[in-house]
Amino acid sequence: MKSPRTCPPQDWVPLLVPDMPSPQALLPWLERMHAARHYSNFGPLVKELESAFAEGFQLPIGQVTTVTNATLGLELVLQALDLPPGSRVLVPAFTFVATATAVLRAGHVPVLADVDAHSWMLTPDIARAACAVARVDAVLPVATFGMPHHMPAWQQFEHDTGLPVVIDAAAAYGSQWLAGAEGTLVFSLHTTKSLPAGEGGLIVSTRPGLAARVRELSNFGINLDPAADVPLGALAGVGTNAKMSEYHAAIGLISLQNWEHNSQCRRALRADLMQDIAQASPGPLVWQQQGHGGELMAPTLLCARLPSEAARAALEKACHRGRIMTRRWYQPLLTNMGVLRHCCTPLDTPNAQALAATLLGLPFFLGITHEQRQRVCTTLAHALAKFA
Ligand SMILES: Cc1ncc(COP(=O)(O)O)c(C=O)c1O
Repeated sequence: MKSPRTCPPQDWVPLLVPDMPSPQALLPWLERMHAARHYSNFGPLVKELESAFAEGFQLPIGQVTTVTNATLGLELVLQALDLPPGSRVLVPAFTFVATATAVLRAGHVPVLADVDAHSWMLTPDIARAACAVARVDAVLPVATFGMPHHMPAWQQFEHDTGLPVVIDAAAAYGSQWLAGAEGTLVFSLHTTKSLPAGEGGLIVSTRPGLAARVRELSNFGINLDPAADVPLGALAGVGTNAKMSEYHAAIGLISLQNWEHNSQCRRALRADLMQDIAQASPGPLVWQQQGHGGELMAPTLLCARLPSEAARAALEKACHRGRIMTRRWYQPLLTNMGVLRHCCTPLDTPNAQALAATLLGLPFFLGITHEQRQRVCTTLAHALAKFA
């Protein structure tokens, strides 16, 4: 969900502006890091960040681990599940490419499922229906645009079907919790996400041994457990290097300190913008609805569903003329990507197809000015007048 085009020429209204900590805020952490002479390899700042996460999720420290990014996190979680090669992993057709590429790089086949028309997510009911028409060996639902899943429902699904479920919660830090259920969550700490560390990922899993195995795989596969059969320091599996550096952990720790304030500001901004835009729009616009998983606590982007494909095209064109950046998030659907077409199994995806024809991402960032907001609203009012 990121792109080099997030920094437009000056008079454009940008789509996103990351709110990373200032260099001044970072300095004391850099000094601490430098004094410890520890820059990577599960250093003190990574450990501090992981402790804070474990405390937040009320889990033992061994059930969380950090990684360099969510893409590698997904890949390593899939590897750690020890599914037979070529297993079929159900993913939503409407998601960022990394959900599917992680499945492929782990040696499995993505099976592309539909999403709910209102929450825009792959739900347990959709997964059950998919299992009735296709072989599925694991499920990888996405917390679409940060909207949380209801984990007790996924735990019930795992219990009923015996299939492992891993939630790609890339954009959902602070919204997606386990809610007392068992489960596995993979978060992104990318600069555009709700808890930015620049780059980074977080695995939270109550599945016995899973987080520890991912940690080992993130350190080349070298055994880190004195109690294991393999000697300490010997290669226990074929891993990679996906460790989080101390630099990224430092940014993550500062972002964690600011999280409550920033997430509150993001929620307030989203509500305000939705209200302004709905008032300016000559006809009704549709927004993502919360599912059973609770509220979106730290929105990172704003997507509106337009009344038709023609209305979306007209708004895109008007925004371009008005120097307002827009983005068709998660599009084209995975089903329609040439590179993926021959290595995925597509199912019927009517809701995802309808979404992909009408959804448009609009500017959303803390610090958006009054003038920029007005420009978006006026442009939208003019562009959509003839579609009312
Ligand atoms: C749904 C989803 N999954 C995975 C990722 C990849 O996250 P990362 O950039 O941390 O690898 C993203 C990033 O935007 C995403 O939106």
